[in-house]
Amino acid sequence: MVQISERGVNVAVLGATGQVGMVMRRVLDERDFPVKDLRFLASAHSAGQVLSWRGHDITVEDVATADLSGIDIAIFSAGGGTSKVWAPRFAEAGAYVIDNSSQWRMHDNVPLVVAEVNPQDLDDVPDRIIANPNCTTMAIMPVVKPLADAFGLKRLIVSSYQAVSGAGRAGVEQLMNEAKAAVEQGADKLVFGGDAIDFPEPTKVVRTIAFNEVPMIGAIVDDGSEETDEEQKLRNESRKILHLPELKASCTCVRVGVFTAHGMSVNAEFEQDATPDAAREVLSKAQAVELVDIPTAQLAAGKTPSFVGRIRQDQAVDGKKGLAFFVTNDNLRKGAALNAVQLAELVASKHFADRL
Ligand SMILES: NC(=O)c1ccc[n+]([C@@H]2O[C@H](COP(=O)([O-])OP(=O)(O)OC[C@H]3O[C@@H](n4cnc5c(N)ncnc54)[C@H](OP(=O)(O)O)[C@@H]3O)[C@@H](O)[C@H]2O)c1
Repeated sequence: MVQISERGVNVAVLGATGQVGMVMRRVLDERDFPVKDLRFLASAHSAGQVLSWRGHDITVEDVATADLSGIDIAIFSAGGGTSKVWAPRFAEAGAYVIDNSSQWRMHDNVPLVVAEVNPQDLDDVPDRIIANPNCTTMAIMPVVKPLADAFGLKRLIVSSYQAVSGAGRAGVEQLMNEAKAAVEQGADKLVFGGDAIDFPEPTKVVRTIAFNEVPMIGAIVDDGSEETDEEQKLRNESRKILHLPELKASCTCVRVGVFTAHGMSVNAEFEQDATPDAAREVLSKAQAVELVDIPTAQLAAGKTPSFVGRIRQDQAVDGKKGLAFFVTNDNLRKGAALNAVQLAELVASKHFADRL
């Protein structure tokens, strides 16, 4: 534990050495989070590593042997299995846990919150565990919520174009290695058929991801739907965040050969007429949303808002009750680390105001 300041809250970051953890460390600094003591934790694999934060050297601790006392807020980005074991233990020791994994999102006692969309859900945190939504859900919620409030949302159909960093460091390494192999062997061979390139065996994404699209993220759910768990997350999490338990929603998740920032093609059907002009008017006032002509992944990478554009009347819906649009958002930033830090700010102002 390293003391950063005389006042503030005691913060622990579990998964501090991962991709989301790295962005988390940066965002805590950028937003001038009121940190008193700061701890970085991970597995035995990277325990002992020293990470610098605001000029202080902080040694990474192995969570398995760490003393959990004295932590006010713990931000987790270390996977669902780790969270399942450690979130209740941190909470038992007195910390509010903000978790980035899917482990707790659908638990009744656990609020699932996008900071700009449903912060009121943080009023009741009975188990001291708060969940951060999945990065696809997170990206579209700041756009969908104001449209739902204005026009009454009936149905969502989403296709995602998800970056490899959403699959952790291992996803990034796979794209790097495959792209290198393609360039070395003459990428023009890809024009005439992927078999012409001798790619390394896929190590994380289930098929070659360089210069490819792979419509399989997560595992097929054992409920007869033939959807993946990633595809079901968008429906289930949207219903919980929007407080629309009957919302009709369906999603097809596709991994693409992009390093960071997910894209989502959205077709939304409403109770009332919703023209593109009316939607643009609503979205021009929305928090965490930026209207652009062409929202690309590269535009969104490293930035905060959900970029929305290509807003059209959905021609497959009668009258003017359907909109089609495209959203891009940085999956590591607002999709994970930034929203978690925003939730930590809300928890700090509610429960530790006397220390700020
Ligand atoms: N990537 C995204 O776009 C994204 C978006 C939303 C949510 N998330 C969630 O955020 C989490 C991390 O994602 P990531 O992309 O940062 O993955 P990552 O780069 O692979 O990093 C994983 C982190 O978890 C730590 N960890 C792994 N197993 C552990 C264990 N048994 N005990 C303690 N620490 C352990 C690792 O520590 P070591 O260095 O010791 O291995 C590392 O710090 C996942 O739950 C993921 O679902 C990711």
